[in-house]
Amino acid sequence: LAGLAAGGAATLLPPVRRARAGEGLPPRPAAPTAPRQHDWTFRAAPRQARLLGAEGPESSVWTYTDALLPVLRIDLGDSIVARLDNALPEHTTIHWHGIRVPNAMDGVQYVTQPPVEPGQSFTYRLTPPDTGTFFLHPHCNEPGQVGRGMAAVLLVDGDMQVPADADITLVCKDWRLAPDGSWLPFETAAGAGRAGTFGTRRAVNGVADFAAEVPAHGDIRLRLLNLDGTRTITPGVAGAEAFVIATDGNPIAPVPLDKWRLGPAMRLDLLVRAPAAGEAFTLQDLFAREPVPLGRFTAVASPLAPRPFRPAPLYAPGIPRADLASAERLPFVFSAALGASGAVAGLPPDDPFAKILMDALCVGGQIFWAINKSTWPGGDHRQLPPPLAELKAGRSYIFELQNATPHPHPIHLHGHTFEVLSQSRQENPPHLADTVLLQAREKAEIAFVAREGNWMLHCHVLEHLGTGMMGWIRVK
Ligand code: C2O
Ligand code: CU
Repeated sequence: LAGLAAGGAATLLPPVRRARAGEGLPPRPAAPTAPRQHDWTFRAAPRQARLLGAEGPESSVWTYTDALLPVLRIDLGDSIVARLDNALPEHTTIHWHGIRVPNAMDGVQYVTQPPVEPGQSFTYRLTPPDTGTFFLHPHCNEPGQVGRGMAAVLLVDGDMQVPADADITLVCKDWRLAPDGSWLPFETAAGAGRAGTFGTRRAVNGVADFAAEVPAHGDIRLRLLNLDGTRTITPGVAGAEAFVIATDGNPIAPVPLDKWRLGPAMRLDLLVRAPAAGEAFTLQDLFAREPVPLGRFTAVASPLAPRPFRPAPLYAPGIPRADLASAERLPFVFSAALGASGAVAGLPPDDPFAKILMDALCVGGQIFWAINKSTWPGGDHRQLPPPLAELKAGRSYIFELQNATPHPHPIHLHGHTFEVLSQSRQENPPHLADTVLLQAREKAEIAFVAREGNWMLHCHVLEHLGTGMMGWIRVK
């Protein structure tokens, strides 16, 4: 598939067995520490932050904690008891993106739980089964809530054979602000119906000119999260050598960083060798013609000596692997919605079910997109629309994803970590992920072992999931 579609030239080489994702990584030793329980309270509330610079105006952000974009950290094996108190003016939830949670903890309103209304609480209990870089965000009014800052990073430690000399989380997310610090509309018909609505100010960890000091000659782990609801980035490092060591939090045999496209919700963990004291390296976005600087890392004196850079691989992931020979193949076509506008497809705009569905999707807008020609069709308002597919728990599946549009769509499957077997327009090695970017007209194959539950399958361009490019699969 990859050879045929890339550039249209068919290769006549004999088929080569491609390595499976995560092959050749060292097995993880038994956990050295006794597991702990983390009791957290998230008070989702409006708070003030200066997003246009320290001297700039204040903006009313919505956050889970007093910190903007907090980074939470646990060890593999630890459990989490997280109470969400909703002090926002609208309902919300916590979705644990990329974490193989029990279905009831997945945080999808109406699908796995009722939405948490203003003044109400909900307690999430989970023990993340995998190491890596994950994040949490609401599954309600995603453009408006994530757009105002509702998200947190969750790091699950225990994947490093050799500890890094520094470990820096970088959350890439643009803000959509007017010069006076007020929010511009998070959704526009022009954006939602095309590639999405872009922010007005690019930022990393909330600020436009992110800078950090790193130990000279140190091995620096950079954990990139593309939290933006619209923008795809192509991370590059200027002034230092960089290797990819994890994709969506999942270990991969280290490969030099080269043209890895990071759509909304995707993560990339890099290991970068810092230069000598006084020198700096820069993280850039190479997606556009001119590289855009995202962060500057200045090396400061350290006891580390210069030495060859051979990044130690992370420990092997514990993701069950699909049996490709017996896997059932299911096609999913992501397209524009046919003839639908101003209403849920097939329903008149004044149909009460159309209203319920629109509330359930947390948007009041239009439908532009479809998966397998379906955009949450009609039915009893107490019931979900039919699933896109019914799967059997424990069985292996290959989803054949096809983007029939000229816009990029990062496709996310809840509750599973899948293996990206092929991508027709990107030359990434096989890797594990929870979100796969489909570029314009791209095809990809993903494989996984199904887990029991009702799991969402949707585009992570936040305006696309609310305007039709969302569905769910049932696994029994
Ligand atoms: Cu981060 Cu349903 O998504
Ligand atoms: Cu999309």
